[in-house]
Amino acid sequence: MNADVPWDEFNPVDYISHNYRSVLPADAKIIAIVRDHFSDHFRRFPGRRIRGIDVGAGANLYPALAMLPWCDEITLLDRSSRNVEYLLGQSDGYDANWDAFWRELCQNDGYAAYPHDPRERFKQVVRVEEGDLFHLAGQEGRWTLGTMFFVAESITASKTEFEQAIKCFFHYLEPGAPFAAAFMEKSEGYEVGGLDFPACKVRRRQIRRTLRGHAKGLRTFSVGKHDKVRDGYKSMIVARGYRRT
Ligand SMILES: C[S@@+](CC[C@H](N)C(=O)[O-])C[C@H]1O[C@@H](n2cnc3c(N)ncnc32)[C@H](O)[C@@H]1O
Repeated sequence: MNADVPWDEFNPVDYISHNYRSVLPADAKIIAIVRDHFSDHFRRFPGRRIRGIDVGAGANLYPALAMLPWCDEITLLDRSSRNVEYLLGQSDGYDANWDAFWRELCQNDGYAAYPHDPRERFKQVVRVEEGDLFHLAGQEGRWTLGTMFFVAESITASKTEFEQAIKCFFHYLEPGAPFAAAFMEKSEGYEVGGLDFPACKVRRRQIRRTLRGHAKGLRTFSVGKHDKVRDGYKSMIVARGYRRT
């Protein structure tokens, strides 16, 4: 179960060195899917005040960077004290490895035309929150944009908790809010800094079925089948759409 995993021992430095030292081909594809979705949506609502949340942000800033041009406030939620410490450090001025992810986002005009220094703006809008996604009492519909990357299937081996994590994610979004989420398909678990972390072995079909109950305009994409970051999974699934009204 999620509560039994030693999340406070998750090593963000090791995790980044395996996953986010540079933009891997799969990241580039994911970023393109997510940035085009957000940009197409928010182009239609200039000036609207948006509150974003990245659920289980961990040591990955690119979902937050994808939300940055559209948001007045971004919550980075995680239950691991080491990841929260990492995120707090990054909110004061993020590391140079994230610049390449921002450049990737800037292949879309909505990002390229952003008039602010992203590092400065990130400092102003990001709020890091240590918390458990299963227990954010009283926060229904608080956020108007959301991301959840490699979380629901990568925090538990239980299908019930996988489904529950997705339900909670949508519960915190306002009806109609755009979202993007990413999943490791058929993951057998993963190792970070010498510790094993669990995963729920879900297929694309099951991911779609679970998301469909909460989302409209849902599209899913399978990426990275031929350029894997490690063994023990089939592909990465990216989903985008809107919270069902
Ligand atoms: C596989 S990592 C994904 C990190 C990041 N989103 C990414 O894209 O690489 C899973 C993250 O979920 C966090 N996490 C685990 N259980 C959680 C919970 N109940 N509530 C919030 N975050 C949780 C972990 O601390 C970790 O940062």
